[in-house]
Amino acid sequence: MPSRINPSILAADFANLEQELGRIRTADLVHVDIMDNHFVPNLTFGPPVVSRLAQVSPLPFDVHLMIDNPERWAPGYAEAGAFSVTFHAEATTNPVGLARKLRSIGARAGIALKPGTAVEPYLELLPEFDQVLVMTVEPGFGGQSFMPSTMRKLKTLSENVRKGGLDVWLQVDGGITEDTIVIAAEAGADTFVAGSSVFNAADPAAQIARLRAAADEHRHAH
Ligand code: DX5
Ligand code: ZN
Repeated sequence: MPSRINPSILAADFANLEQELGRIRTADLVHVDIMDNHFVPNLTFGPPVVSRLAQVSPLPFDVHLMIDNPERWAPGYAEAGAFSVTFHAEATTNPVGLARKLRSIGARAGIALKPGTAVEPYLELLPEFDQVLVMTVEPGFGGQSFMPSTMRKLKTLSENVRKGGLDVWLQVDGGITEDTIVIAAEAGADTFVAGSSVFNAADPAAQIARLRAAADEHRHAH
């Protein structure tokens, strides 16, 4: 299975989003960062913008909710047709209930962990999820440096997914470049979010291909 590359439109030109979506059509999914200025100290898009963008996007959406009270908002993104909706473990007391709700609407359910959040309490919940997002930076801003300390969690997750015979995608997000993608691929990631490294490239399609090739090469080494 080839590595999935999901460019984050947080790094796109917000004055030309339709055109920017066209520049990444060779990617797997479009990563859409939703920030509420409460869970993280930054603010991005909300439901009406995402619904409209989905109508013009050549690729499905991988929605990453960095918001408080995801119970209130996450189902709306699933109803708007998002391929996957990922909420933060730190923002809810009922991750299983929310995952089941998202799946019942037809979206894939994802759970995200900030760098300081331990993975162990969530291992027994893995069958309830389609994706786990291991944040490789503190959520809130693009353009930060990859934190290698998060790779231990990815190894634990990939061992548990393999042992359990589960089909759970393991995603990393934050500071992913041609160099750091190799580290994450070796640790067991299969789905890679990249914001600035894709949109700051002169040719985003070529950069997507380079990232995918680098990840594939290092996943095959295992
Ligand atoms: C950060 C966001 C990321 C961000 C990644 O909170 O969740 O998706 O867009 O940006 P880069 O790839 O520039 O680190
Ligand atoms: Zn993100």
